[in-house]
Amino acid sequence: MKVSWCFLVISAICAAIIEGQPSTQGFTSIDCGAPSGTTYKDSTGIFYVSDDSYIDTGKNYNIDPKYTSTSNQALTLRSFPEETRNCYTLWNVTKGEKYLVRATFLYGNYDGKQMAQHSTPLQFNLYIDVNLWRTVNITDASSEYAHEVVTVAANDFIWVCLVDIKAGTPFISALELRPLKDNLYPYTFPNQSNAILFRLNYGPTKNVTIRYPDDPYDRIWPWYQYDTTMLKSISTTASFTRYRDDQYEAPFSVLQTALTPVSSSNLPTVSFDAPSNNPNFPGYYTVLHMTELQELSGNQSRQFDIFLNDWIWVSSLTLPHGMAYYRSDVVAQLYSNIKFTLVKMTNSSLPPILNGMEVYWPITMEVNQLTSAGDVKGIMDIKDDYNIIRNWNGDPCSPTNFSWHGVVCNTDEPPQITSLNLSYSGLSGKISFSFASLQSITYLDLSHNNLSGDIPDILGEMSKLQVLKLSGNHLNGQVPDTLIKKNNSGLLLLLSEAYHWCTTRT
Ligand SMILES: *[C@@H]1O[C@H](CO)[C@@H](O)[C@H](O)[C@H]1NC(C)=O
Ligand SMILES: *[C@@H]1O[C@H](CO)[C@@H](O)[C@H](O)[C@H]1NC(C)=O
Ligand SMILES: *[C@@H]1O[C@H](CO)[C@@H](O)[C@H](O)[C@H]1NC(C)=O
Ligand SMILES: *[C@@H]1O[C@H](CO)[C@@H](O)[C@H](O)[C@H]1NC(C)=O
Ligand SMILES: *[C@@H]1O[C@H](CO)[C@@H](O)[C@H](O)[C@H]1NC(C)=O
Ligand SMILES: *[C@@H]1O[C@H](CO)[C@@H](O)[C@H](O)[C@H]1NC(C)=O
Ligand SMILES: *[C@@H]1O[C@H](CO)[C@@H](O)[C@H](O)[C@H]1NC(C)=O
Ligand SMILES: *[C@@H]1O[C@H](CO)[C@@H](O)[C@H](O)[C@H]1NC(C)=O
Ligand SMILES: *[C@@H]1O[C@H](CO)[C@@H](O)[C@H](O)[C@H]1NC(C)=O
Ligand SMILES: *[C@@H]1O[C@H](CO)[C@@H](O)[C@H](O)[C@H]1NC(C)=O
Repeated sequence: MKVSWCFLVISAICAAIIEGQPSTQGFTSIDCGAPSGTTYKDSTGIFYVSDDSYIDTGKNYNIDPKYTSTSNQALTLRSFPEETRNCYTLWNVTKGEKYLVRATFLYGNYDGKQMAQHSTPLQFNLYIDVNLWRTVNITDASSEYAHEVVTVAANDFIWVCLVDIKAGTPFISALELRPLKDNLYPYTFPNQSNAILFRLNYGPTKNVTIRYPDDPYDRIWPWYQYDTTMLKSISTTASFTRYRDDQYEAPFSVLQTALTPVSSSNLPTVSFDAPSNNPNFPGYYTVLHMTELQELSGNQSRQFDIFLNDWIWVSSLTLPHGMAYYRSDVVAQLYSNIKFTLVKMTNSSLPPILNGMEVYWPITMEVNQLTSAGDVKGIMDIKDDYNIIRNWNGDPCSPTNFSWHGVVCNTDEPPQITSLNLSYSGLSGKISFSFASLQSITYLDLSHNNLSGDIPDILGEMSKLQVLKLSGNHLNGQVPDTLIKKNNSGLLLLLSEAYHWCTTRT
């Protein structure tokens, strides 16, 4: 247990921020493409596992040994040449709680095809549940592309899907899930996730990346490379006090360095563009982390205005001494180009400083398009009972382009499964009770498999069922009365020849 920075702050706040090594409880850390059963603790102290219990499609590869990576996770990957959509199911989540999900991609010419050229990028889409998160656009075979999204779990699992858009075979190197405190990233709701455009740490003088354990949420804070003729680094080893309702909790190691102008009085920050090809783009939220690192003497002052393009975003800002401070957008800002400029006030003795920056954009979550939870559970159980692979992953009904082969859904909100065709599917064993979980099903075709044993009573309790096809199996025993009754009142029941004698009872 490490007790630091307590000397400087009052004890009430101190109690809340005594920290040891932060917990990795609730972290899911998947090294995609690692051999089945792999587990290891990497240099960050985080425990990684192979991906076999999170996905059942795709093929494992190593990157070409000519490429290297600083992270162990990027040496292997899983590639998806077959189905259009392939999904990981992140199981260890609680519905309604907030998470950071990070997907990482390093191509490394794993397939020997020299894809990912600047002229012909390797591209595919990334989905979070049934919603488009972003397009992955890989133009450098040796770079690690890490994309993060903050989301509220709509179920007791989160789907992360890779979708082929005919610009190369989708693949993934690592997938990570980190629980977040509920007050962080405040504009994240069940109906709205937020994708990180970038996050930067201003002030380090060399290329360092901050993540866990410095950031207990294991966000990645890359180094901002700066022009040393224009900007200079200032730093401290002191700690700060956090506001109780800090909505971003930038790690102290990020806040302990900052950039400030060498001679100019203004601090231009990076500018960034809205995607020009998306007329529905909602805009960006920006967070500027600005924490005073210097002990200002009596006649010193630091006061500045922040401009967003030509508009005053914050005026006459003075940084409260010793506090982890930031300013952020409360609505997404929609401009084709966004540029923040920090401008020293004429009567201020010191120029502006900037310690860190985050930019993210909202993604609308179509929660009403998620298949009804009972049907999802039922069909996932059926999938497990018969070990069905096909394209059966992700949401069974949505988006409709990717609905499961053999599954038909209605257009209700939420959608429900109305038809299931598993004929000629090589099913063997008994008829699963899980079929009865599909409450809205009208058509069920299990014909021409290798099913054996009894026909369970429970099939007769599926109230909406109109057609049940069981012929071409090895079923035996009596047909349940419930089914006979239903057939007599109109259910179309197709059985194998062996059953004719017992279905003609009166
Ligand atoms: C994740 O969930 C699975 C199944 O619910 C459980 O067996 C496993 O222990 C969980 N893992 C962690 C790290 O919580
Ligand atoms: C893909 O990345 C390249 C290089 O960064 C860029 O020039 C191109 O515009 C990007 N394409 C898309 C669709 O974002
Ligand atoms: C999304 O959810 C938030 C919080 O529950 C709510 O304030 C907002 O109106 C919702 N937005 C839409 C478009 O439904
Ligand atoms: C910093 O180092 C990482 C990992 O080695 C590398 O991917 C990245 O491009 C470097 N960044 C800069 C700005 O040099
Ligand atoms: C600020 O005060 C210090 C001594 O307290 C003095 O040496 C210095 O010249 C002053 N600077 C200005 C700009 O007044
Ligand atoms: C600078 O001037 C503004 C008004 O123009 C005033 O509010 C502010 O307190 C002054 N700041 C300093 C450091 O003197
Ligand atoms: C779904 O299919 C339609 C028609 O084939 C196509 O226009 C649309 O782009 C597809 N949507 C996705 C998300 O692939
Ligand atoms: C059901 O699936 C089988 C096998 O895939 C296929 O041959 C048949 O046409 C399907 N039936 C319907 C009604 O789609
Ligand atoms: C059919 O199921 C029986 C036992 O349930 C099994 O012995 C047999 O190998 C299966 N046949 C096929 C073709 O799967
Ligand atoms: C279903 O009911 C019809 C009469 O409605 C009857 O002719 C048929 O034999 C019954 N079929 C089975 C399989 O019970």
